[in-house]
Amino acid sequence: MKPFSISPNPACLYLTSSLKAVIAKVSYTIEERQGLTCILGDVGMGKSSVLRLLHSDYSARPDITCCLIPNPSFVTDFAFLKGICSELGVSAKRSLFDQEEALKRFLVEHYANNRNVVVFIDEAQKLNGKMLERTRALLNFETSEDKLIQIIFSGQLELRDRLRDPSKKAIRSRIFAPSILSPLTFEETVMMIDFRCNFFNINNPFSSEAVEIIYNNTSGVPREVLKICAIAYAIAQAKDEPKVSLGTMQEAVTEAVM
Ligand SMILES: Nc1ncnc2c1ncn2[C@@H]1O[C@H](COP(=O)(O)OP(=O)(O)OP(=O)(O)O)[C@@H](O)[C@H]1O
Ligand SMILES: [Mg+2]
Repeated sequence: MKPFSISPNPACLYLTSSLKAVIAKVSYTIEERQGLTCILGDVGMGKSSVLRLLHSDYSARPDITCCLIPNPSFVTDFAFLKGICSELGVSAKRSLFDQEEALKRFLVEHYANNRNVVVFIDEAQKLNGKMLERTRALLNFETSEDKLIQIIFSGQLELRDRLRDPSKKAIRSRIFAPSILSPLTFEETVMMIDFRCNFFNINNPFSSEAVEIIYNNTSGVPREVLKICAIAYAIAQAKDEPKVSLGTMQEAVTEAVM
């Protein structure tokens, strides 16, 4: 495993205060059965990673049934609903109406057994108007106090823009406490790199000056930070540098910028 890998492995996530706040809001939405929340952010900010972390934590809970849809590129809203049902273990039906009824029965049964049902949907900016409308319909499955299903969207800022459209008012008003991921501060960039080095059992090869160069060239966007780190680390290893030199840093920046 590579210390500066850019795959969304939840175990490699350094929990900044902003990520802790996201986790708290999503957890509140789930525990208090508030229905729908979303995690928004620009590309490479850590949305998929934090969603996977939440999914893996909730998957381990005996009182929760949950699933993760990593990429909702469904052709129709019926296929979208079927996709969710299949992940939850609800059998496929021939019509949208029957599928919704089957899911409703499943949710009522789970609620009666004190089990909460949670659906995590990544790349939610890909959901079209009909799929958002289907999501809203699922949120109508409720008692006078509780939603029977909790849905967590994670998506690029484009999702927020789409939800701002007047035609999406009904679903927008259902969103409970949305989160927007912000870039790392300089201190968080230092800590994140250090966390990755510790996690992968290597000596941190980046001096404070080196991290300054990284930060100034990435504005603290985690994926960009990691990309420069990976290139600099590889060059330094090839040159046998135990600490990444500033010359190597400059080479890495030039290579990383397309
Ligand atoms: N706080 C962090 N600590 C450590 N690594 C992080 C942190 N935030 C993000 N990363 C890493 O940055 C990379 C990109 O994160 P991720 O894929 O989750 O971003 P994303 O917001 O889903 O991007 P996209 O919009 O392109 O889907 C991953 O390798 C992830 O582990
Ligand atoms: Mg992602």
